[in-house]
Amino acid sequence: MIRAKIIGTGHFLPARVMTNDDWAKRVDTSDEWIVTRTGIRERHIASDSEATSDLVCEASKQALDAAQVDKNSLDLIIVGTISGDTAYPSTANWVQKKMGIKPIPSFDIGAACSGFLYGLILANSFIKTGVAKRILVAGAEIMTKIINWEDRNTCVLFGDGAGAVVLEATEGDTGIISTCWGADGNLGELLYQPAGGSAIPASIESVQKRLHTVHMKGNEVFKHAVLRMQEAAVEAIRLAGITSDDISLYIPHQANIRIIEATIKRAKIPIEKTYINIDKIANISSATIPIALDQAFRENRIKPGDNVLLSSFGAGFTWAGVVVRF
Ligand code: UT7
Repeated sequence: MIRAKIIGTGHFLPARVMTNDDWAKRVDTSDEWIVTRTGIRERHIASDSEATSDLVCEASKQALDAAQVDKNSLDLIIVGTISGDTAYPSTANWVQKKMGIKPIPSFDIGAACSGFLYGLILANSFIKTGVAKRILVAGAEIMTKIINWEDRNTCVLFGDGAGAVVLEATEGDTGIISTCWGADGNLGELLYQPAGGSAIPASIESVQKRLHTVHMKGNEVFKHAVLRMQEAAVEAIRLAGITSDDISLYIPHQANIRIIEATIKRAKIPIEKTYINIDKIANISSATIPIALDQAFRENRIKPGDNVLLSSFGAGFTWAGVVVRF
């Protein structure tokens, strides 16, 4: 059976680090509140001159190096992002230009925190059906340019960064062995950016009301996140024909340590087998999972034969689960 195999990973985090104490100097918050409620201690912040595609380019170069393949051997680029360079063209198109990659199909996926897993699932389907043989999939965000820096309910939660993988067709028993995904548009207004699209185009009023920033009803989103992250994890394990005992490493979307703890309790995955980096990088939406995947590789936490579980939940609402055998 043909399936997609991850042959290289990479990630990039901007140089500037902002701690909880730094935030406490700007809004009415504290290190104690942020750590207790979220598990976040610090986050990376992009510079004014960095665009999301710049982060993708850095992560992608690493992934291509790790895979030992040439950029012009790719036949598709997919970028998961909700904070792309421009409304259009897509960030994937800018990446193609900046990396000097020959004309190949390239596009973005707007599935928020599930953007990378949605990309992985699509890439797997394209590889299975022969539409493409070698695909770059990235998740990248500059969330700090779309948050309201005066809203303590949201500003302390997010960071910036990018992660990327190179996928290739394989006929072995490694690669993506199960996928599941879902979405419920009825709950979209619990987490969204109201303005900037056709519903509320940019105007002086929309800017003054800060409608171009993240709006979230945090505690309501929390309940759905726990349920869907757990469902996606359990379903991906079931579809892989294995049990939670067979999972060597679980890489959850990193939105809140309490969501991760509740998810692994229900999915019966021990904390020792769970990759956690929210303390260092906060919530980077679509980038959290590919960044963690690359970090786990470079820390030798993934070995040949390991089953690695990935699951996400985000705005939309969207959710997804994937099991990859390395
Ligand atoms: O990325 C995928 C989607 N996103 C998520 O999955 C995020 C899901 N939600 C969460 O992680 C949590 O709901 C939050 C971390 C956002 C908030 O935690 P919470 O325990 O649900 O707090 P809350 O929203 O119920 O707020 C509790 C209190 C409020 O004060 P009052 O009304 O009780 O007086 C907030 O105003 O905490 C206050 N608060 C803060 N206090 C200090 C909210 N933000 C802050 C802050 N510092 N930064």
